[in-house]
Amino acid sequence: MRIIRTKDYKDLSRKTANILSAQVIIKPGCVLGLATGSSPLGTYEQLVEWYNKGDIDFSQVTSINLDEYRGLTHDHEQSYWYFMQKHFFSRINIRPDHVHVPDGANPNAEEACREYDRIIEEAGGIDCQLLGIGLDGHIGFNEPADAFQMGTHCVRLTQSTIEANKRFFSSADEVPREAYTMGIRNIMQARKVLLIASGEGKAAILKQAFFGPVTPRVPASILQIHQDFTLIADEAALSEIDAMK
Ligand code: GLP
Repeated sequence: MRIIRTKDYKDLSRKTANILSAQVIIKPGCVLGLATGSSPLGTYEQLVEWYNKGDIDFSQVTSINLDEYRGLTHDHEQSYWYFMQKHFFSRINIRPDHVHVPDGANPNAEEACREYDRIIEEAGGIDCQLLGIGLDGHIGFNEPADAFQMGTHCVRLTQSTIEANKRFFSSADEVPREAYTMGIRNIMQARKVLLIASGEGKAAILKQAFFGPVTPRVPASILQIHQDFTLIADEAALSEIDAMK
């Protein structure tokens, strides 16, 4: 595990975008595993800026997003599909048929999840996976559990996640209770994994996830044993880790 320390969120976004753009330049037809949430917004913004300058070309890139709320259609403003289009895909030259997000509109969970595993496999796996981290240690929507879930699956969101994500909806009642998410195997099979975290609010969970035991109770902790895992975090997010030294 490697840690890249950044001064603040802006610095974090630029460094993360740098790694992703290096990936695209080295392998123009790469598969990027992408994430939603507020953490990657600055990274997408930076990549769009470099795209506009002509520095990056996404025309051969495939993207595979981590997760989607079950029951939300593409046109729902809080669907992760909509989020990705708005903040990233509609602003770069990625081919629409190269963009993948689990199909939240498919009520058949088994079918939606198997289909997504097939998409990941047919793409040849993920070259670089970008992750945020939930306050309970979730990655994608892999919530704390008794065991690691392997492939794409349907999850019931925890109260902590519903509370954290309600800021995007008109009320907590509006937050979907379930989601489809890539599983831990899908994430661990990515050739490179980046997890980004910013702000004091993430300090306690970062310490628990990366300096505590590997356990499905803190799903992100499994990344400690990934062979190419980089944590990119700003000083505020690293404050509890720093305090250990
Ligand atoms: C959501 C997403 C995760 C994300 C997490 C943290 O629940 N499913 O992929 O990492 O929130 O979000 P934020 O970056 O806004 O803190």
